[in-house]
Amino acid sequence: TANTMWGGRFAAGPDAIMTAINASIEFDQRLYPQDIRGSRAHAAMLAAQGIISPSDEKAIGEGLLTVLSEIESGEFTFSVALEDIHMNVESRLKEIIGEPAGRLHTARSRNDQVATDFRLWVRDRCDIVIECLEAVIRAALSQAEQGADWVMPGFTHLQTAQPVTWGHHMMAYVEMFGRDKSRFEDARKRMNESPLGAAALAGTSFPIDRHATAAALGFDRPMANSLDAVSDRDFALEFLSSAAICAVHLSRLAEELVIWSSAQFRFVTLSDRFSTGSSIMPQKKNPDAAELIRAKIGRILGATVALFVVMKGLPLAYSKDMQEDKEQVFDAADNLVLALAAMSGMLTDLTANRDKLEAAAGSGFSTATDLADWLVRAAGLPFRDAHHVTGTLVAMAEKKGIDLPELTLAEMQSVNPTITQEIYSVLGVHNSVASRQSYGGTAPDQVRAQIARWKEKLA
Ligand code: ARG
Repeated sequence: TANTMWGGRFAAGPDAIMTAINASIEFDQRLYPQDIRGSRAHAAMLAAQGIISPSDEKAIGEGLLTVLSEIESGEFTFSVALEDIHMNVESRLKEIIGEPAGRLHTARSRNDQVATDFRLWVRDRCDIVIECLEAVIRAALSQAEQGADWVMPGFTHLQTAQPVTWGHHMMAYVEMFGRDKSRFEDARKRMNESPLGAAALAGTSFPIDRHATAAALGFDRPMANSLDAVSDRDFALEFLSSAAICAVHLSRLAEELVIWSSAQFRFVTLSDRFSTGSSIMPQKKNPDAAELIRAKIGRILGATVALFVVMKGLPLAYSKDMQEDKEQVFDAADNLVLALAAMSGMLTDLTANRDKLEAAAGSGFSTATDLADWLVRAAGLPFRDAHHVTGTLVAMAEKKGIDLPELTLAEMQSVNPTITQEIYSVLGVHNSVASRQSYGGTAPDQVRAQIARWKEKLA
């Protein structure tokens, strides 16, 4: 039999395969709170404008609340034949309240309905992600505060470069997650316009009030162009793009935690709560949460690329292709929220091993740049020459199997006679970090200033 919602011109019902490819109810059922909220706002507006009667509006409003509670209590049976959440809700409404249910869809199409529902959903998700990001930022911030002056090796090419502080390293991630947060805030602002009332594509001949429904749904204003309102999904692309960038940041921190928790580094110890064991090797404590966070970028970027490709080249206005937007966004959002929660838990529980960090900070000739800088300052050498002298000293130390501070003054002077006893003070890692006082540098004072700025921002 033909579809009861749109089957007027149809003599036969759809093929089973048609239903299988067409129905979205299996995944879009999670839009039910947004769908019911949008419909209630629409019905209230229709009544306020005299398009439907107050008694119909009352019946619709109450009926929708009944549907809502049926879905929430699990009594509701979703029907694949009814395709999607919009028709499932409306059809059940008809069963409950009868004739007035048929008036709800006046001056509306599923095209503006789904655009509205989905915007509301993505907007909610922005708020949740922003909250999760704040938790990660706070966790990194308190790690930074605790170890603002703990020294550790800073790396380039994953080779020892110059000593930095643990606080400085943690604050680098605070900055990244802070930008992620502002990306979601920006995206939220831009998406906060209402498509409702765009109808199928051209608007409607009914005297609707789009400003009223926009306000009722917490949107800043109605979208200005009805064709645009039903046919763009840039808000979803922006959400996904922001999610992908955030997932990249998460993956880098996760990767560092994997490396740092290894026996070879031991810079950090992960809590039992965020580690797992091995079923064969009794000694193992694996950083599975960090590894899974590291991997999430795969599916999140995958979802982003998938929706970009779906949207590319679509003619205006609505095409069914756009039904493919939801699973990508749902999956990316769910996994981003989970990854952020795991990261904030892991960071909160994490123990940074101060002694290990400090021991590693001084190895690998990490203060060679300080030595070269001293030659420039104290002996007046051009930096290129100082670089060369220092390189010779590094080679000498390496050959002897010792670190720079273990070279005797005589050995140093054999390479450059202007070197004095004072050199040993700049070879210490604490002096090294303390000297990097430039704005944003690794000196503990600078790091504490960064922390103070962030605490103010979050307060
Ligand atoms: N389930 C559809 C979607 O997610 C709803 C819109 C259907 N509109 C239409 N004209 N068939 O996009």
